Amino acid sequence: MTSAPLLHIEQVSKRFGGLQALSDVKLKIYPHQIVGLIGPNGAGKTTLFNVITGLYQAETGRFSLSGKSYSPSAPHRVAQAGIARTFQNIRLFADMTACENVMVGRHVRTHQGILGAILRHPAARKEEAEIEQRAHELLEFVGIAHLADRAARHLSYGDQRRLEIARALATDPILLALDEPAAGMNHSEKDNLHQLLLKIKAQCCAILLIEHDVKLMMSICDRITVLDYGKVIAEGEPHEIQKNPAVLAAYLGGELA
Ligand SMILES: Nc1ncnc2c1ncn2[C@@H]1O[C@H](COP(=O)(O)OP(=O)(O)OP(=O)(O)O)[C@@H](O)[C@H]1O
Ligand SMILES: [Mg+2]
Repeated sequence: MTSAPLLHIEQVSKRFGGLQALSDVKLKIYPHQIVGLIGPNGAGKTTLFNVITGLYQAETGRFSLSGKSYSPSAPHRVAQAGIARTFQNIRLFADMTACENVMVGRHVRTHQGILGAILRHPAARKEEAEIEQRAHELLEFVGIAHLADRAARHLSYGDQRRLEIARALATDPILLALDEPAAGMNHSEKDNLHQLLLKIKAQCCAILLIEHDVKLMMSICDRITVLDYGKVIAEGEPHEIQKNPAVLAAYLGGELA
């Protein structure tokens, strides 16, 4: 690959008391790639997401985004820098409608301040209308436009996961980080998610994907990084990962077979 990595991280370490959750982790993501992050429970996958998106501060680490040095700080700054994420446990505003949830995501990219919105300044009103329009487009994109006016709490589990993705896309990311988006989905929901991820890759941005569904990961990822006890034990294309002895040992010979 000749272009510069979109995200390049090196020597990332994170400790929780006596537990070394991440040790000297490195990862590269190129534009238009889906990069998978796999590993057994407690391997450090979510911790790495939390470090990349500024929720946790790493003790050591070098980060660059689109070739420029990047230091993950407050989550809204991370969103402005172009990284959006979803969470392992769904975090939506349960009483707000699907459309309003996406509009909240969009506010990262708006220009009119809170005061403008409160005073119903004409420029703020115009911007609000544009945000709503964009939210509807994104709901359409993820396949739940018909649920725009429904409260998030009344959406099915799979649709809530789609809504989270729409809200993340509303920030116009260059990288979308998804933490177990297929968890709890049935077969047909997973198939739909597979198609949606390919569409995001083709039309929107690169994806960093944590997922335990090995079949999905092997078929959708361009490259996979494997974490075990906070360390990278393998990196490569899915077919290489599938037969890597260290990876098979980490999974006790079961899941990847
Ligand atoms: N805020 C925290 N405080 C203390 N320990 C933590 C914290 N967050 C994570 N850990 C620990 O760090 C290790 C890595 O956790 P992490 O959630 O990153 O794993 P994971 O790979 O995402 O696992 P899973 O597949 O179960 O989601 C675990 O031992 C976990 O208990
Ligand atoms: Mg996790």
